[in-house]
Amino acid sequence: MIVVTGATGNVGRALVDRLLAAGRPVRALTRDPRRAALPDGAEVVRFQPDEPAALFGGATALFLYAQAAAPDLLAAARARGVRHVVLLSSGIVQEGADETHPIHVMHATAEQQIRDSKLAWTFLRPNAFATNALQWAPQIRAGDTVRGVFADALSAPIHEDDIAAVAERVLLDGGHEGAVHRLTGPGATSNAEQVAAIGAALGRELTFVETDPGEAGPELFPHVPPQMLERLLRTFGETVGVPPEITDTVEKTTGVPARTFAQWARDHAGDFAGRA
Ligand SMILES: NC(=O)c1ccc[n+]([C@@H]2O[C@H](COP(=O)([O-])OP(=O)(O)OC[C@H]3O[C@@H](n4cnc5c(N)ncnc54)[C@H](OP(=O)(O)O)[C@@H]3O)[C@@H](O)[C@H]2O)c1
Repeated sequence: MIVVTGATGNVGRALVDRLLAAGRPVRALTRDPRRAALPDGAEVVRFQPDEPAALFGGATALFLYAQAAAPDLLAAARARGVRHVVLLSSGIVQEGADETHPIHVMHATAEQQIRDSKLAWTFLRPNAFATNALQWAPQIRAGDTVRGVFADALSAPIHEDDIAAVAERVLLDGGHEGAVHRLTGPGATSNAEQVAAIGAALGRELTFVETDPGEAGPELFPHVPPQMLERLLRTFGETVGVPPEITDTVEKTTGVPARTFAQWARDHAGDFAGRA
C-alpha cells in the first residue's frame, strides 16, 4: 500500500492515477474526502494526523507534501511499517540558497524532519511548475489580454505529470533511497512566451501586458500563499532574463523526455477555454 498525501493536488492526483494504472493499491489522503473526486480504485481517507493507524496501517511507502510533514506523522508512519518516504520538496533548496526565504524554510524543514525520522527517503526538488500558468486562466477565459508581472522572467516549467512519473518510478523501482532529484521542464520560456503558447493551444492570439510588481495584488497569484507573495515577487524579479536551471532527470528516471510548456498548454487548453 502506498499512501499519497496531497492526493487532490496537481501532482498527487496524477500520481494516484499512475499508481492505480500500475495496479498498485493506493490510499489517497485529503482533508475533505467529500470534495476530493478521487478515482474509485483509490482508498480515500481523511487526512487526520492524530489518527495515524487509519493513515498508515498496511502501508510501506509515503508520498509526502511538505505542507503535511510533521515529526509525529513521520514517527507514526515508521511505527506502522512505512519504510520509504518520497517528499515533494522544491528546487529552492540548494547550496547557497537564502535560508530565510519562506518557501525555503518550509521545504528545508520538511527535509530535515524526514532525515531525522530514520525513514529511507527520496527528495524531489522541482523548480517552477507549469501549473503556475493557471494563475492567468480567469483573465484568458475573459479576454485576450493577460495582465501580469515580469514579461521576460524565465523559467523551465515542469508538467505536473512528469513530476508524478518520476515519483512513480522512485516509489516502485527502488534504488532511489537517499537521492535528491532536481526536476525541471526541458527548456526555458518567458512569461510572455507562455501566454503566447496558451493562445496557440486555444487558437487565439493573447497579449501579455506587463504590470508594475508594486501594483500586483494576490488576485493575480491564486497559487501563492498571500504572506509569501512579497518575497516571491522579488524572487520572480530575479529571474528576468536569467537562464534557468535545466536538468534531464525526468528522462533519466522515466525513460521519457520531459514535456514542453507548449505540450502542457495543449493538455490544459480546457482550463483556459470559455470566452464567449
Ligand atoms: N508551484 C511551484 O512552482 C512549485 C515549485 C516547487 C515545489 N512546489 C511544491 O509543490 C506544492 C504544490 O503542488 P501541487 O501543485 O500538486 O499542489 P496543489 O494542487 O496546490 O494542491 C495542494 C495539495 O496539498 C494538500 N494540502 C494542502 N495543505 C495541506 C496540509 N496542511 N496538510 C495536508 N495536506 C495539505 C491539499 O489537499 P486537500 O485540500 O485535499 O486536503 C492538496 O491536495 C507546493 O505547495 C510546493 O510544496 C511547487
